[in-house]
Amino acid sequence: MQYRSLGTTGLTVSEIGFGCASWWGQAAYSEAEAVCLVHHALDQGVNVFDTSPAYSGGNAEPRLGRALKGLDVTKLVIATKAGTRFERGRVRRDMSLEALENDILRSLKVLGLETLPVLQLHGPAIEELTAEFQEGLLRFKQRGLVQALGANSFDPAVLEAVIVSPVFDVVMMDFNVLRPERKALAASAFAAGKGVLAGMPLAMGHTRLQVLNLRGLRDLWYSARALKNHRRDVLDGVRFRFLDNQDGMSGAQAALAYVLGHPEVSCAIVGTTRMAHLVEDLAASGMVLPPSLALQIAEAQRSR
Ligand SMILES: NC(=O)c1ccc[n+]([C@@H]2O[C@H](COP(=O)([O-])OP(=O)(O)OC[C@H]3O[C@@H](n4cnc5c(N)ncnc54)[C@H](OP(=O)(O)O)[C@@H]3O)[C@@H](O)[C@H]2O)c1
Repeated sequence: MQYRSLGTTGLTVSEIGFGCASWWGQAAYSEAEAVCLVHHALDQGVNVFDTSPAYSGGNAEPRLGRALKGLDVTKLVIATKAGTRFERGRVRRDMSLEALENDILRSLKVLGLETLPVLQLHGPAIEELTAEFQEGLLRFKQRGLVQALGANSFDPAVLEAVIVSPVFDVVMMDFNVLRPERKALAASAFAAGKGVLAGMPLAMGHTRLQVLNLRGLRDLWYSARALKNHRRDVLDGVRFRFLDNQDGMSGAQAALAYVLGHPEVSCAIVGTTRMAHLVEDLAASGMVLPPSLALQIAEAQRSR
């Protein structure tokens, strides 16, 4: 596993991180298998684990806490989120400083940590990022509850606001072959000294028509999510099917090599529930895209 700096936080991160969300966190997915994946990732040098109190019906964050129980977590860069939580059967949102403090205290307990290495606001609205609000965020850091502050958003205006703010250390954005428009944002984040976490680096499997690959409940769940939230990506992904036909690297590895080929990205956070996939994903660390494939990706991106 190769490592990179997380911006100017002083933290060093594995270039591939493990996403504790989606099907991985669902109660219907075996806890033993979920824990086994985390332990394998740790054994292979992964030190970044990304989760949220709102993920997977509220089950993902406590499951990560159980997976890490009894282990030395001091060198891990656990990134969780605040501002959303799963309550009474649905995701509820409250970005007030009081709610964030409650989220932080709950996450510390659930994850068995004394300080959160990375806390990310989960989808803040631009108008919520007032000076007063940001001063309040800084106080979480001053109190030692949080080491690095970040935000996770799909909204370019929010990402830009986070990048120019001295209060934030980290930004998480969706970055993959289907999102070439994120390159400029990642570059300005890097130039501003921010750590860049790339979420959905495998484009959620849409480059290999994941929606049609139905082998059981988990694939049905992935497909239902895609058709509900990411229809555009499902269609866009078709133009990148060539990623799967490479010599010497799988489609997933090519997708990861694309993301990690941007030095501005600190860590690509993959989601998986299959050991064979995890092994393949982790082996992508250090892989470099052949120039002809990089060109083919750029052409497919231009043809949107
Ligand atoms: N999705 C979002 O909206 C979002 C938003 C913010 C942050 N994030 C963060 O980003 C992380 C990753 O996002 P994600 O899981 O949505 O998307 P992703 O990592 O781009 O893709 C995950 C999909 O790829 C499949 N996969 C993984 N490795 C594979 C391999 N080697 N070969 C073939 N298929 C493979 C997984 O299926 P299997 O389970 O079958 O391996 C899953 O369907 C999340 O866990 C979260 O921490 C996500």
